[in-house]
Amino acid sequence: MHPSAILTLCLTGLAAASPYPRQASNLTNFLLVTTSQCPSTANSSALADVSALSLFDPHYQANYIIRTIGPGYGSLPRFNLTSGDLGSLASGPHGVGTFVYNSTGEVEGGQLMFSKEADDEDGNLALKNGYLLTVDGEEEGWTICEGPLDEEVIYWKGNSTSCTPTYIHAVADAPY
Ligand SMILES: *[C@@H]1O[C@H](CO)[C@@H](O)[C@H](O)[C@H]1NC(C)=O
Ligand SMILES: *[C@@H]1O[C@H](CO)[C@@H](O)[C@H](O)[C@H]1NC(C)=O
Ligand SMILES: *[C@@H]1O[C@H](CO)[C@@H](O)[C@H](O)[C@H]1NC(C)=O
Ligand SMILES: *[C@@H]1O[C@H](CO)[C@@H](O)[C@H](O)[C@H]1NC(C)=O
Ligand SMILES: *[C@@H]1O[C@H](CO)[C@@H](O)[C@H](O)[C@H]1NC(C)=O
Repeated sequence: MHPSAILTLCLTGLAAASPYPRQASNLTNFLLVTTSQCPSTANSSALADVSALSLFDPHYQANYIIRTIGPGYGSLPRFNLTSGDLGSLASGPHGVGTFVYNSTGEVEGGQLMFSKEADDEDGNLALKNGYLLTVDGEEEGWTICEGPLDEEVIYWKGNSTSCTPTYIHAVADAPY
C-alpha cells in the first residue's frame, strides 16, 4: 500500500500562501490519513498513496495506537486537537463502553499512543496550515512501520528497516 518512500515536499513559501483548501480549519471532528504528499487536496481520495487511519489495540492493551486500514473498514475514528493532544471517542477494551482517548502528552519517538486515563499533560502536536500534523512544528518524521500483528502502525521517527516516511493529513472526508 506504500510503494513509495519518496515524499512530495511542501515549499515553505508556497505553503504560507496556500491555495489549498483548509479542510479541517476548525480542528474538530477530522479524520487522519497518511499520504506521501505534503500539499493538501480538495478531495482526500486524490492524495498520493493515501491510507485511512484507525485506532488499534493489539492484544487488548490499555493504550491504543493507530494503524493504516484499507477499504472495508466499519467506521473511522474522528479526532479533535486540543492543547497539543489529539482526542477521539472510542470503544473501551473488548468493545465495552465509550471513552475519550487522548494522545499521551509530548510525542518524542515511537508509537503515537492514546490513553483514556486522565492526563493533563499538554502535547506538542499541531495542524500546520490547518491540515498537516506536526510534532514540535515538524511535519517530517512520521513513519509507517510494521507493528504488532503485522499491522502497519504509525510511529514518530520509527527507525526499523520496515519503516517508510509519510505525512499525516487531517481531512474532512474518508479517502475510500
Ligand atoms: C467550530 O466548531 C464549533 C463546535 O462544533 C462550532 O460551534 C463553530 O461554529 C465552528 N466554527 C467554524 C468556524 O466552523
Ligand atoms: C472524492 O473523489 C472520489 C473519487 O473520484 C469520489 O468517489 C468521492 O465522492 C469524492 N468525495 C467527495 C467528498 O467529493
Ligand atoms: C470534538 O469537538 C466537538 C466540537 O466541540 C465535540 O462535539 C466532540 O465531542 C469532540 N470530540 C472529542 C473526541 O472530544
Ligand atoms: C530507535 O527508536 C527507539 C524507539 O524510539 C529508540 O529507543 C532507539 O534509540 C532508536 N535507535 C536508533 C539507532 O536511533
Ligand atoms: C482529553 O482531552 C480533553 C481536551 O483537552 C480533556 O477535556 C479531557 O479531560 C481529556 N481526557 C482525559 C481522559 O484525560
